[in-house]
Amino acid sequence: MTLTSDLPVRGDAPTRVLVVAAASTPADGVRHLRLVDPRGATLPSFTPGSHVVVSCGTDTDGRARRNSYSLTGPELEPDAYEISVRLDPSGRGGSRWIHDLVPGDTVEISRPRSAFAPVLTARHHLLVAGGIGVTPILSHARAAATWGRSFEVHYTFRPGDGPHLDELRELCGDGLHTYHTPGEFWSTVGPALLDRPLGTHLYACGPGVLIDELVARATDAGWPSARIHYEHFGVGALDAGEAFTLGLRRSGIDVPVPAGVSALDALEQHGVAVSNLCRQGVCGECRTPVVGGAPLHRDLFLTASEKDSGSCFMPCVSRADGDRIEVDL
Ligand code: FES
Repeated sequence: MTLTSDLPVRGDAPTRVLVVAAASTPADGVRHLRLVDPRGATLPSFTPGSHVVVSCGTDTDGRARRNSYSLTGPELEPDAYEISVRLDPSGRGGSRWIHDLVPGDTVEISRPRSAFAPVLTARHHLLVAGGIGVTPILSHARAAATWGRSFEVHYTFRPGDGPHLDELRELCGDGLHTYHTPGEFWSTVGPALLDRPLGTHLYACGPGVLIDELVARATDAGWPSARIHYEHFGVGALDAGEAFTLGLRRSGIDVPVPAGVSALDALEQHGVAVSNLCRQGVCGECRTPVVGGAPLHRDLFLTASEKDSGSCFMPCVSRADGDRIEVDL
């Protein structure tokens, strides 16, 4: 019998408690966790390329342990959610606590979200992964193989350090191409951007430098932005930005946002609650309508056309392009 988990969900940002059922090391410095419902219930299905926000208490300085990770496992009525996380010693500590989790530990997870879903009408799927950016690409490849879609995977990683390589080999067969140097990578992927059939969609996840060049080359080759889909590893360390004023149109108050303080933090300091999860510009939970002024977008969630419209922004990372922006709060 298939159970559906009915563990509590809360407020605008539903979460559920899952248990670490297994932990492994698929590559040096990479922790793979299998998270299950404590009563063995089936978990909600998700769109390939989705991520969840994983939370687990607070650090000693009181900062929430919370980060967003791509789901790597099967997407239809899964009996577990699986994530793979590379330890980043120079990061904000978000990967350290994940690496310390052991079977039996519990975490809270958000409902799966996707800003990186496959386009089902695509004639062909050109999937590109760099390093641990393989996680959402693995999800795309599994779905493409399952549903018989035309696809290929280009995966670049350091020698001996390719997480999930065996699974990709099994899923892709001859459609998997691997590389260890930028020269090898571009000598194949560059021409691929020029000769794949009209209607091909490009999906890429990896380090910012790789994604930026890939998007630039695809754009130069004439790919419309609607057929280019990409994710970075996260917004990383953002600069402090300029101070600005956030006008709350409905409340009729102004909230000053100093340099180095996020708009979300400033709102909370003024007692204005905005639903949020990742606080990294990834999950989309804090999306806020903009009714005046121009946002300076720094998130990884909104599409290019949504950003161009200027009708909303993510206050956890984004700011004003100017000294004032007005929002529908
Ligand atoms: S809280 Fe996740 S995008 Fe802002």
